[in-house]
Parts: sequence; structure tokens; C-alpha cells
Amino acid sequence: MERKFNNYMSKEIRNSITEKAEKLWGEDLHKNKLNSQHFIQLKNIFLTHWDRELKGDFLEIGCGTGADLEYFLKIKNLKTVTAIDIGKNIDDLKKKYKMYSHANIIRASALNLPFEKNKFNIVYSFGVFHHTEYPTKCIEESYRVLKKNGVIFLYLYSAHEDIFFKRLGILFEKKLMQVYKSISYSNQNKISGVLSPICWLIFTVPSRILELIGLKKFSKKIPFFFGTHPFSLINDLKDRLMAPVNHRFEKNEIKDILESYKFKEIKIEKNSSGLYIFAKK
Ligand SMILES: C[S@@+](CC[C@H](N)C(=O)[O-])C[C@H]1O[C@@H](n2cnc3c(N)ncnc32)[C@H](O)[C@@H]1O
Repeated sequence: MERKFNNYMSKEIRNSITEKAEKLWGEDLHKNKLNSQHFIQLKNIFLTHWDRELKGDFLEIGCGTGADLEYFLKIKNLKTVTAIDIGKNIDDLKKKYKMYSHANIIRASALNLPFEKNKFNIVYSFGVFHHTEYPTKCIEESYRVLKKNGVIFLYLYSAHEDIFFKRLGILFEKKLMQVYKSISYSNQNKISGVLSPICWLIFTVPSRILELIGLKKFSKKIPFFFGTHPFSLINDLKDRLMAPVNHRFEKNEIKDILESYKFKEIKIEKNSSGLYIFAKK
């Protein structure tokens, strides 16, 4: 398991993953933009744990635009709120949230957290570990910085081992990522602009029709079901296709990984959007 997700990458490849991540998110997608909030998905799935556990010292790993961070900063029961990301835009976030005296916003990597062990009651990370070269190292680091009985709330990409259409989509994604790797950043941007209306027509429109005829659950299994207009998918396409790496986990794989790091009370909900995870140290 370790091997599959650690993959023994050379230093050059590891550096290039970091560089690409910094450029895509820190200097482009997250520069001066506020994403939609994602915490609500984990909250809805693990409502009881969420209400019970959100107190004490909190760490968000990979805070991106700060959309979720803004919510956490306002939770009264959180004594301190720490957020890290490797993106340059972290400096803007530091300025933006300087009025929160309990906030600590730092530019750092999930692979090497600049904190002593047993520091946090909660680690939260949405859509980050699968974009790093060693997702298992991110899990190991999360475990290290958690206090005993501390909890992790995590969202990761799913391998969708049981959804045929999604697996087809993943295959297509892999092929396109190979093409993207051979062209310049600006051309990757242009292609994403062209692909957005195409994906909207092929995926979003049929998904909307299914929803209209009452097949709501099935409509959500179609990629890009959330599109709102022909060009609404550009940033999602960039997020997927221009990402340096997209690891995907089967439900049992992630359970085994968490167990191997001694996490307990592991709960994993898999749906058509991905893997939603709760576990305790
Ligand atoms: C898809 S975005 C998700 C951002 C945010 N969590 C959200 O839900 O909108 C991935 C984020 O992971 C960050 N990231 C990638 N590799 C990282 C690493 N090694 N350490 C910390 N953050 C990383 C990127 O800079 C980016 O902000």
C-alpha cells in the first residue's frame, strides 16, 4: 500500500509536482478568488461527530482560497485556528484575516508540517492529499500532529471502483492529463476554455434532463452534473487536468492506510463525488 502511493519518485519529479501545484493554485486559480465552501459536505455526512468534535485547537491543511477557513475562524469553540498551504496566496490570506487573534496562517507543506507532535484536536483537509507526491506521508503527518483522541475530517478523490461511468471519466481524465503534460501552461488554459462547453453539453445537460424526469440520484453520478452554464466548468477542468498529480483511492485502500497509521473509529462514506473520511487518533 505504502509503495502504491509513495511510488519512490525522484527529487526532480517531487520538485516539479510542488512547482506545478504552486503555479496552478497559488498563482492562478486561488489568486484573489474565493472558491465555494466545501466543509458543508463533510459536515452533513458526519454531523454528530462535527458538532461534538469542533472544539480546541484546529488545523486546516491546504486551505486554498480560504473559503472554508473563513467559516472555521468564526466557530466560537475553536481556541486556535491554524491553516497551511503551499500556495503564494497564503500571504494575502494572512493579511485578510489578521483581525482574528486566534488565527495562525502559514505557508507550509502537508508533507512536512511545521508543528510539534500532539498539538491539534482537529485536522481538516479537503481535496489536498491526493494532489501531493506522497498522500500517505500527509496522513502520517496528520496523525503525528494530532493529540490523543484528536480527529481528522478528510475528503479525497475516489477511484470509483464500482461506478462504471465514473471509471470511464477517470480513464479519459488520465489520457487528457498526458496530453496536457506535453503542452505549455497557456495552451492548457486555452484547451480548458474550449473543453468547458463541450463537457457541459456531453455531461451536464444530460444530467439535468435526468434530474428533470425524476432520476435525481442517477443524474448525480454523471461527471460535471454541477455545471451551471457552458463556461462554468473551466476552473474545474483546470483543477483536474492541470493538477500535477491526481491520486485516487479505493475505499478499502484508504481504510487500510488509516489503520496502518493506527487511526481508530474510521468511518468512510463513498459517494459519486468522492471519499469522505472521519477517524480518531
Ligand atoms: C483542489 S485545491 C483545494 C483547496 C481547498 N481545500 C478547497 O477545498 O477549496 C488543492 C490545494 O492543495 C494545496 N496543496 C497542494 N499540494 C500541497 C502540499 N504539499 N502542502 C500543502 N498544500 C498543498 C494547493 O495549493 C491547493 O490550495
